[in-house]
Amino acid sequence: MISSAALTPIRGLKTTKRADLMDELQLLIDLHKDAQRQGPGGDEQTRLAVTLSGLRGSTKLKIADIGCGTGASTLVLAGELDAEITAVDLFPEFLAELEVAANRAGVADRITTLSASMEALPFRSEEFDAIWSEGAIYSMGFAAGVEAWRAYIKPGGVLAVSELTWLTDQRPTELQGHWQREYPEVDTAAAKMAVLERLGFSPLGYFALPERCWLDNYYRPMQQRFAGLVERHGSSEAVRALVAAEMGELSLYERYRSFVSYGYYIARKTDRAPEEPESSPE
Ligand SMILES: C[S@@+](CC[C@H](N)C(=O)[O-])C[C@H]1O[C@@H](n2cnc3c(N)ncnc32)[C@H](O)[C@@H]1O
Repeated sequence: MISSAALTPIRGLKTTKRADLMDELQLLIDLHKDAQRQGPGGDEQTRLAVTLSGLRGSTKLKIADIGCGTGASTLVLAGELDAEITAVDLFPEFLAELEVAANRAGVADRITTLSASMEALPFRSEEFDAIWSEGAIYSMGFAAGVEAWRAYIKPGGVLAVSELTWLTDQRPTELQGHWQREYPEVDTAAAKMAVLERLGFSPLGYFALPERCWLDNYYRPMQQRFAGLVERHGSSEAVRALVAAEMGELSLYERYRSFVSYGYYIARKTDRAPEEPESSPE
């Protein structure tokens, strides 16, 4: 869910009329709710992030998975770590799918779902050992999310997020123009790490998602859902526009896959330097 049509079921919405907005939201929910993932990612990659986080072996962890969708990463975290996980998403329809999957996987007792906006979370200060978020922080913006969520992480706790990232210093104009319009915060890993450091985190690890996370785990399964979606929505103009936009994004990715991916950033919360006392003039 990261394209101009479907950047998220919020950011990508093109309409301003309330009725149209609800229709577009329903379309996006319908397109994505039966999917294992609502964005590029992979179980193997979530496990690698867990390894880099250094949390394995810790007990009684408290973790929030923000923008969890139908919970692909939540289920991996529940399987890999001794943790109580709060899985947050705006859409109860996605959380309902997550609850079914958690029951099926036998990890429901470790997961609590919460329908809330990532911009107004009902969490206490320093409540969590770790905050996780795959492919969702861009909905409020990387820097804004890192800054806001830092407050909920215990001293020395972990932030693990995946975020749209340039893989190279130079990009084709078409690609650059597209993502700059859709997500002006898109940047290189070095720039994202600098944001993390500026906002009170020390990077523990970084890797870029491989192509299979986009093609095998996200775009190809989505393509297979298009026919049913179009039929369920009577081949309306809106559903055809959504499918066309998704196909456009897929084509862009296929042509320029060596220049862009999601970067996975794992970082530890650092202490803030004490304020320097203001020096008084001699
Ligand atoms: C690209 S999807 C990623 C979902 C999941 N983490 C995954 O990788 O499959 C982004 C998710 O963020 C959720 N989302 C978007 N805006 C949100 C907001 N303001 N608050 C909470 N969740 C939001 C969407 O509903 C969606 O499930």
